Amino acid sequence: MNIMEERIYPPDFHELKKGVKELLGFNTGQYKDTYLGRRFNARMRAYNIDTYHAYWEVLKNNQVEQQRLRDDLTINVTEFFRDNTAYHFLHHDVLPNLFNEKERIRIWSAGSSDGKEAYSIAMLCAELLGLRKAQQRVSIIGSDIDRESLDHARKGQYISKTGVTQTDIKKQLTFLKNPESYFTIQDNAYSMKPEIKHFVQFENYDLISGRKKFNFDLILCRNVVIYFNRELQEVLYQDFYNALNNNGFFFMGKTETLVGEARNLFVPYNTKERIFRKIKT
Ligand SMILES: C[S@@+](CC[C@H](N)C(=O)[O-])C[C@H]1O[C@@H](n2cnc3c(N)ncnc32)[C@H](O)[C@@H]1O
Repeated sequence: MNIMEERIYPPDFHELKKGVKELLGFNTGQYKDTYLGRRFNARMRAYNIDTYHAYWEVLKNNQVEQQRLRDDLTINVTEFFRDNTAYHFLHHDVLPNLFNEKERIRIWSAGSSDGKEAYSIAMLCAELLGLRKAQQRVSIIGSDIDRESLDHARKGQYISKTGVTQTDIKKQLTFLKNPESYFTIQDNAYSMKPEIKHFVQFENYDLISGRKKFNFDLILCRNVVIYFNRELQEVLYQDFYNALNNNGFFFMGKTETLVGEARNLFVPYNTKERIFRKIKT
């Protein structure tokens, strides 16, 4: 156990945790205290407040701050194979389809957080092609604006950043025949093997202001655009359409919907799983 996990929090921290759960419906009980502590502290700094109790007094009557905290608590949350049925469909339909059609495949995980989304796709490619062929035929870019997340992604070691325990990771990986082919598992840490990292790159890229990207066969942008206003969403969906090669796929989050011109451009491929295709005639 590392030192951070041993840290003891005062009683008012636990009161705040309980209050947040009741007030926001955010399941604080499933998160590690160190994670919640970091988020609470960041919000407390914004108010120049130094006790959890004082922050609770602000929070309980302030709806704007409640929304702000909710955003802060969820913004980097991600997991391996988030939305299992969608990944199942990618595994058995979308990816085989792409591999049949093309030799070299380029994939972009936009808003990749700590990299689990990009690595999930990489592992599916390896399951389908074998590691060596996947390295030759696939390149994956994960991009994010959060430096801490990018560092974590590049390191590819997963312990407890968002309160994910070893059991949680194991549960997420039941998807794979042999997780040990892709991870070195030691104590409480899952480390991506170099063979997987070999074809996954991470870059600091702002979806709003970054130079436009092109030439992808599959783009995942999941649980990112929901934080943006509608006008910006329209622009981004159009950007993703432009960034795809013909016959390329776009995979969005379970609770997201296409808006703007992109609705007329993309062809639904699996509506339930929010997978769309660019088909130019
Ligand atoms: C909730 S996570 C989603 C992670 C992953 N896509 C998933 O669905 O599990 C949202 C990520 O979007 C990133 N993000 C927010 N605004 C962004 C922007 N303007 N450009 C790039 N990434 C952004 C955040 O830093 C965060 O890591």
